[in-house]
Amino acid sequence: MKAIEIRNKYLKFFENHGHKVIPSAPVIPENDPSVLFTTAGMQPLVPYLLGEKHPAGTRLTDFQKCVRTNDIDEVGDNRHLTYFEMLGNWSLGDYFKEESIAMSYEFLTKELQIPNEKLSVTCFAGDEDCDRDNVAFEAWKKAGIPEERIYFFGKDDNWWIAGEEGPCGPDTEMFYDTGKEKCSPECNPSCGCGKYVEIWNNVFMEFYKDKNGYSKLKQQNVDTGLGLERMAMLLQGKKTPFEIELFAPVMEKLVNLQKVDLIQSRRIVAEHLRSSMMIIEDGGRPSNVDRGYILRRLLRRMTRHLNKLEIDLSVLPEIIDVSIDSLKELYPELDANRDIIKTVIIEEKDKFVKTLQNGEKEFEKVANRAKNAGKKVIETEAVFNLYETYGFPPEMTEELAKEQGLEVDMSDYQRLFAEHQAKSRMGSEQKFKGGLASTGEVETKYHTATHLLNAALKVVLGEHVHQKGSNITADRMRFDFSHGAKMTDEEKQKTEDLVNEYISQNIPVEKLEMKKEEAIELGAEAMFLDKYGDIVTVYKIGDVSLELCGGPHVKSTGELGHFKIKKEEASSAGVRRIKAILE
Ligand code: SER
Repeated sequence: MKAIEIRNKYLKFFENHGHKVIPSAPVIPENDPSVLFTTAGMQPLVPYLLGEKHPAGTRLTDFQKCVRTNDIDEVGDNRHLTYFEMLGNWSLGDYFKEESIAMSYEFLTKELQIPNEKLSVTCFAGDEDCDRDNVAFEAWKKAGIPEERIYFFGKDDNWWIAGEEGPCGPDTEMFYDTGKEKCSPECNPSCGCGKYVEIWNNVFMEFYKDKNGYSKLKQQNVDTGLGLERMAMLLQGKKTPFEIELFAPVMEKLVNLQKVDLIQSRRIVAEHLRSSMMIIEDGGRPSNVDRGYILRRLLRRMTRHLNKLEIDLSVLPEIIDVSIDSLKELYPELDANRDIIKTVIIEEKDKFVKTLQNGEKEFEKVANRAKNAGKKVIETEAVFNLYETYGFPPEMTEELAKEQGLEVDMSDYQRLFAEHQAKSRMGSEQKFKGGLASTGEVETKYHTATHLLNAALKVVLGEHVHQKGSNITADRMRFDFSHGAKMTDEEKQKTEDLVNEYISQNIPVEKLEMKKEEAIELGAEAMFLDKYGDIVTVYKIGDVSLELCGGPHVKSTGELGHFKIKKEEASSAGVRRIKAILE
């Protein structure tokens, strides 16, 4: 079964079971630059899992485009992907364990025709925070899974939370038995030997965890996630996702172009290319910070492995075409943005080629220093520095060193590399946490302030002003907007005064739900109109502001205190940036 058929069956099935199909959020989270990427279907739904009313109701389903880059260095093996599609269904305080499990079982066995014998499941074993999940156990038995294929594990396996803080709960996971021999008599679904492959995860989200521990949420939710590529791989009887129709054509193209046969490199090229295209399509651009840096790393790693395959980089556009053609049924937006995707990737590739040249110059210096000092070895730190600063891969350093009769000392490289990785991993985990946790009181005030600022800028500078981005922390707000020129001191003062005027009027902030067309007709502001569903949430602040937005917001503007612009500067061509605080 092709991936597109699995996706269609999934959405139809849950639609038939009373769920509303909602659109995928972009891989770059909307209005929330504090989170690197969308990593799970639940991420854009956090406010609703916490109890806010979703305009589409209490039963939702979607496919979500996800990027997870913590394991970027594992890509190339037979399973890791940095981009994947997650199919999901949600109950927002609607059905709970029994119904969720019954639907999952029906979907797997009736719609996907997976034989019962192929399925094993795991449930939460219980601990001091939460009871053993006997309800899930009984529901699986009732559905038809025999007791010997129902396993119980603790928090390490059967508890789900994104990061350190947020909505969470015990989960039940479904596994597909690949038919491989058990690796030992104890072999079970938590074993990583490859016999059992996890296919679906239903989280029974009724807790919230913060630094004080666990508390109960207002409602009992279900959050499920099924990895599309993995399911397609299993149903097609393939051993790796690189053999399914989403990757096979580009893998074959690489075989035809390569001069050196390296399967890992082909996988890395195919995978990183797809991931990069999805990020670029949703507005990402290579840079040296945050998401831009991740995109840069993906594209550089891809280029490096094209080099390893000894594929002439001038054929990159052809490779991109093959990849888009095999993905366009799932993502027509890739086809529609083919040119821009190519431009971004090729520009970055060209930059990297230059970097590699600079790296070679640096290498010469390092090599000469070693030789002049009468050494035959290039030290680990220098090898690592070439990698970290110039993106210069150690194997290339080694190769060049050999040509000059030198050796490289790699003894400590792994340690340096692991340290570096741990640092960047910590960075991205904090980002994720930051995003989910950023619904505190202060952030909420700043969020409302962005709406007022947007409105004030329109009055002071003109109707051409639109929001281009925002970033909120507990200490300040940043707001990017379209405007061609530097603001004068007078304009800044007027804007600040106007926002404070709105605050002093203590205008109520109303949350409305309406059809998307109606919102457009009323002239509501929206940053990504085509990314929203049919029914949208609109925040109205008197006659001052009307914006499509997921919230949260304060009840009335008087809560904000005093607004002060700290800085106005260029952000990018035609886009200005204001940094402001509430005091
Ligand atoms: N949040 C869960 C996961 O990512 C289920 O959607 O697996």
